[in-house]
Amino acid sequence: MSKFEKSEWAEKKHAKEFMENADVYILERKRLFKILKSFYRHFLLKSELERSIKVLDLGCGNGALTMELVKEDDEIQATLVDGSSEMLKNARENLKTHSNMDFIHKTFQELLKSESEGDDLLVDKFDLVVSSLAIHHLHLEEKKSFFRYVYNHLNPGGFFLNIDVVKAPVNELESWYRVLWSEWIRENQDTLETKTSFEYLPLQYKNNPDNHPDKLQDQLDALKSVGFQQADCYYKYGIFSVYGGKK
Ligand SMILES: C[S@@+](CC[C@H](N)C(=O)[O-])C[C@H]1O[C@@H](n2cnc3c(N)ncnc32)[C@H](O)[C@@H]1O
Repeated sequence: MSKFEKSEWAEKKHAKEFMENADVYILERKRLFKILKSFYRHFLLKSELERSIKVLDLGCGNGALTMELVKEDDEIQATLVDGSSEMLKNARENLKTHSNMDFIHKTFQELLKSESEGDDLLVDKFDLVVSSLAIHHLHLEEKKSFFRYVYNHLNPGGFFLNIDVVKAPVNELESWYRVLWSEWIRENQDTLETKTSFEYLPLQYKNNPDNHPDKLQDQLDALKSVGFQQADCYYKYGIFSVYGGKK
C-alpha cells in the first residue's frame, strides 16, 4: 500500500467531510483565496502573455483554488492533480462548464518518481503552480524534492504559491497558534450559525500522524535552495500561511 493510500485522504468519508466543512474551520479561508486572486491579477494577468495562462493545482481537492482563479480569468488552462479519486470526481463536476481543464489522478510521490525515472507524467510547463493544504503531508526532505519538481515545471518567470499550515518556530507559540485557530473557528461558527462544532480540530491536527508541517523559514530556505527567487511569506495568521517564489 502506498503512503497516500494509508493516509486519511484515501478515505471517501474524510474527503467528503472536508469538502462540506472547510469554510467553517479553515482559518480565514476566504481571505486566503482573496490573496491568491490578488497575486494572480498582479503577477499573471498583468504579464500580457499572448496565450492562455497555464496553471497547475497540486492536491486540488474539489478544485477550490482553480474555481477561484477562473473567476478572475475564464481562459485559464489548468491541470489539476490529486491522489484522491473522490476529490477529483468533485473537481471535474465543479469545473465541468470550463474547457481547458485536465485532471490527473496521481499522488505527489508518483509525480516525483515518474520524473526521476525519466518518464515524467507532467510534460507541460506552467506559468503558475498553486497548492493549498496538501504539501504539509510531505516530510521536509520530500518537500524539498517536490519544490524542485515544481521549479522544473515552471516556465522562466513563473510563480509558485502555496497556502499551507506551517510549524511555529517554538512550542510556546505553536500552542497559542492552536488556541488562536480554535478561537477563530468559534467566532466563524457563531457568524455562520453552524450546528456542529469544530473547535476540537486544532488539537486533532496536532496529533494526526499524516501531518508533517515544517517551519516557515525551513520551507523558504528549501525554495531558495532549489533556485526560487523572491521566496517570501505573503500572509500569516497563526499556523496558516501563504508563501512562494518566482523562477
Ligand atoms: C485539505 S485538502 C485541500 C484540497 C484543496 N486544495 C482545497 O484547498 O480545498 C488536501 C488535498 O490534498 C490531497 N493530497 C494529500 N496528500 C497528497 C499526496 N501525497 N498526493 C496527492 N494528493 C495529496 C488530498 O487528497 C486532498 O484532496
